[in-house]
Formats: sequence, structure tokens, C-alpha cells
Amino acid sequence: MIKKINTKTIKLIKFYNFINYNLIYNNKAINRYKKDTFHISGDKAEKLEKLKKSILNIKNCELKKSATNVVFSDGNPKAKIMLIGEGPGANEDREGLPFVGRAGALLDKMLASINLDRKNTYITNVVNYRPPENRRPTEEEITKYLPYLKQHIEIINPRILVLLGSTALNAIIGNKIVISKARGQWTEKQFGECKASVIVTFHPAFLMRQPAQKKMAWIDLKMIREKKSKLRI
Ligand code: URA
Repeated sequence: MIKKINTKTIKLIKFYNFINYNLIYNNKAINRYKKDTFHISGDKAEKLEKLKKSILNIKNCELKKSATNVVFSDGNPKAKIMLIGEGPGANEDREGLPFVGRAGALLDKMLASINLDRKNTYITNVVNYRPPENRRPTEEEITKYLPYLKQHIEIINPRILVLLGSTALNAIIGNKIVISKARGQWTEKQFGECKASVIVTFHPAFLMRQPAQKKMAWIDLKMIREKKSKLRI
């Protein structure tokens, strides 16, 4: 009997391996995003490395005390489209990569709807360490990380900058305008040598709470698609 079960199990394992379905035999979380997929060299790589080091060296930061990992970026540093979220959540803190949780899955779907993915975009956040209890970063924290974020934008030098949610809007554009008014329009903004077309849209986590707003986000996504084709990127 035991022999029979074993043979059956082995056949099953072979079958699942054949169809690439080995996750059934492994209850460890699947790391969906490979780290360091893009090996860039030269000036840009050096500048990014230096920036990461200076973020790791930030002193007197409450966020750092409770965080596990720095969450620097994901995607292609050569991309001409850069996205900025708010700050890492629990999954991001664990993996050291932005947007790997549920909001990240929705972000991937949003990107896919306009033929984008993490190979042709670059993603970071306003703050690089997880705010405890997933709270919004404070004004003080945003101010502290803003020079690093601006440097990050300068180094990547995107043609299109997508601000995901009100924290990114406040950090980059200011807090005089609410997201419902700011979204869906292009603004030209200069960051050092970098001149980017900036658009604000809803954060995927907000869209999960307010799915009725997805139709507005779709308008923004189509604007990004049009801009991308106009700029031939
Ligand atoms: N929300 C964000 O703003 N950034 C992340 O990296 C994950 C969730």
C-alpha cells in the first residue's frame, strides 16, 4: 500500500514539475521579483549606488528604527518612465523592493493595461523605509527624504514622471492642491538637468478601497499611453 502511494505521489510530483506547478509542495512565499535584474554600469550605476549609500547613512530617522530593509527601487534604471509611490508596506519592508504586496499587484495590472511593466519603468517611493503601522509619512519625514528623492529623479532622468497618490503629489508638487483636482493633467517640471512631464494619479491602495475611482485612473493611464507614444518612448 505504502509503495503504491509513493509511486502515485512521485508521478504527481513529476506531473506538477512538468507543468511548472511546484508551488504546491512549497509553502514559502514566492519572491515574484528578482533583485538586480538590470545590470547597469558607468556613471548612472555609480550615482545610484552612492545615493543608496547616503540613504543608508541617514541619521536620526524614526522610520529606520522600526524598518527591516531599505526599499530603494525596482525596475529598469534606463527607463524613461518613473513612478513614485508613498512608502514601503510590510511586504516591501520584508523583501526590500517597492510594490510587492497587494497594491503592487494592482499597480502591475495598471501598467500592463498600457503595455508597461517593471522592465520599461522605474519605481521608487517618497520615503525609503516603512512607516510603522503603514501610517502616512509625516511632513518632517517627507522633507527629510525629499532631497534624496529629487536626486533619484535627476539620476534616472525620466521623460515621464507618474506620482502615485497624495503623498507623492505633496512631496513633488506641494500640498495646495488636492489629488482629485491635480490628477489627469500634465505639468512640466525640472529636476536639475532633468525635464519631465509629470502626471498625478490615484495610488493603487486607494483604488482598492475606492474601486469606483478606477475609471478616473484609467483616464490617467490612457494619458500616459498617449504621451509615451507622442514622445516615442
Ligand atoms: N505602497 C507604496 O506607496 N509603496 C510601496 O512600495 C508599496 C505600497
